[in-house]
Amino acid sequence: MKIDILTLFPNMFQGFLTESIIKRAIEKKLVEINIIDFREYSLLKHKRVDDTPYGGGAGMVLMCEPVVRAIDDLRRDDSLVILTCPQGKTYQESVARKLKDYHHLIIICGHYEGYDERIRNFVDLEISIGDYILTGGEIPAMAITDSVVRLIDGAINKESSTDDSYTNNLLDYPTYTKPAEFRGLKVPDVLLSGNHKKIKEYRLNEQIKKTKEKRPDLLEDKND
Ligand SMILES: C[S@@+](CC[C@H](N)C(=O)[O-])C[C@H]1O[C@@H](n2cnc3c(N)ncnc32)[C@H](O)[C@@H]1O
Repeated sequence: MKIDILTLFPNMFQGFLTESIIKRAIEKKLVEINIIDFREYSLLKHKRVDDTPYGGGAGMVLMCEPVVRAIDDLRRDDSLVILTCPQGKTYQESVARKLKDYHHLIIICGHYEGYDERIRNFVDLEISIGDYILTGGEIPAMAITDSVVRLIDGAINKESSTDDSYTNNLLDYPTYTKPAEFRGLKVPDVLLSGNHKKIKEYRLNEQIKKTKEKRPDLLEDKND
């Protein structure tokens, strides 16, 4: 898989690409991630990419030209172009699982006041990572990339992703590690029993119980 991320702040991705699971996935050649500065596609003096909004108002708006030139240059027949945007569809694990099957994702990070509205005509999908406003699309782009890359075969232990929260619309079961007792809080006996059938049953029951308590909406959403 290839992921191209268009941003005005490439340095923000430095730690993200050089640590932990993402770093290993790149090294294993499971994914190629390119961080591309929009300014490369500006035709203006000083590589300018934004301007003031028509009609007045606060902030700077990203212009069509550099963004659309970048899309035209990078897009292939099998690409999906994603606009990070608080007005988009709220991101979910089910979307990450669909994105994982694309060969090429292009993710566009806005900044400042946002984009020229006409840019929406050149993208395939608008994604919001929640009902709040960030200063830019870099953190959403990292969130999308991270959630997709960990689903690629070989990126992490398969078992850990199949039990995770939101797989099968259930939250994950509770996990514990040593010691068996901490400040009077004990690990459930069944997990120390060595009885794998009982452990499996216990975990599924806990998943259902937790989901009913914390996210009952997920159980109503079974067909999503
Ligand atoms: C300050 S925001 C612009 C917000 C825009 N004026 C609005 O109210 O819809 C700048 C950029 O950050 C990114 N962004 C901010 N919050 C986001 C969110 N919740 N999900 C996805 N992207 C977000 C987008 O790329 C956006 O263009």
